[in-house]
Amino acid sequence: MAISTKPTGAEPPAGGEPYPRPTVSRPAGTKPTAMPAVAEPAPAQDWPAPAQDWPAPAQDRIVLSRVTKTFPNVGTPALDKVDLAIPRGSFFTVIGPSGAGKSTLLRVLAGLAKPDAGEVSIFGEPPAEASRRKHLGWVPQSPALLPWRSVLDNVRLPLQVNRRAPCQPRDPERILALLGLGEALDRLPAQLSGGMRQRVAIARAFAFAPAVLLMDEPFGALDEMTREHVAHLLLELWQAERPTVVFVTHSVSEAVVLSDQVSVMGKGKLSEPVDIALPRPRPEGIEDTEAFHGLQRELRAQLREAFAAPGD
Ligand SMILES: Nc1ncnc2c1ncn2[C@@H]1O[C@H](COP(=O)(O)OP(=O)(O)OP(=O)(O)O)[C@@H](O)[C@H]1O
Ligand SMILES: [Mg+2]
Repeated sequence: MAISTKPTGAEPPAGGEPYPRPTVSRPAGTKPTAMPAVAEPAPAQDWPAPAQDWPAPAQDRIVLSRVTKTFPNVGTPALDKVDLAIPRGSFFTVIGPSGAGKSTLLRVLAGLAKPDAGEVSIFGEPPAEASRRKHLGWVPQSPALLPWRSVLDNVRLPLQVNRRAPCQPRDPERILALLGLGEALDRLPAQLSGGMRQRVAIARAFAFAPAVLLMDEPFGALDEMTREHVAHLLLELWQAERPTVVFVTHSVSEAVVLSDQVSVMGKGKLSEPVDIALPRPRPEGIEDTEAFHGLQRELRAQLREAFAAPGD
């Protein structure tokens, strides 16, 4: 498949409306009803053609096409002919063993590593261009906060440094309040818990209103209860703002709670994504449902295969 990497003329606004998904919403517990009768239907020949909205056009998807990356002196490719399409506004997660290529995938998406072969398109733009135009946000495993700046000033920093960037930043105080840090605006990083610091890093990435958030094990350093809490807050914020998220984790349950789709990576190869067909917003207690357990089982089985894949 040939993927155009040229920037499109119709540039979507950063943090703009997510790609409209073909969903039907109705009140919980009600049955679908017949379409209301149309008083005077238009003649058949005048009816609009069926919407050609799937697969989404290039400007509404992140696309990797046969992307390969091999590091010198490493026998196995870090990325081995990876094909992937992520619709705008969705939450996509990659899980897999250590050394499988997950961080390399994020680095390629961020324009920080150049593939040896294949093409990458971020909503129709090459990653370097998307990065230059501040369409990409990065949340690292450990939050790199400036110790002498307050919580609020840390979140404001990229907005101040990139004053002329073509984006419509969000209100840092509002984002911090959504993440439960409304009372901690004036504190210094040293006065925060690990979970609070990680939330500041998430707020900093969100405040820039990037179209894409790349998150590499952002909760890896947190204890289980804290990471569940922060993941929950991330989910609420994502639900409100709907950036496209590419998320890496080692936790299967975290992947299922958060994601629309999860792919397992092993030895540089990405599995066919598993659709996480659970309701949004995720209802309380979703982790205890059979649907949730079934998805976990499916992903764990794929993970076992990825761990068992022969080495080089
Ligand atoms: N800069 C580099 N130079 C050489 N080899 C590298 C480099 N970066 C990654 N690799 C190799 O590429 C492979 C994939 O690494 P990557 O960091 O993407 O794995 P990962 O899935 O993120 O692992 P982890 O879960 O431990 O973070 C590994 O074999 C690693 O040694
Ligand atoms: Mg990694």
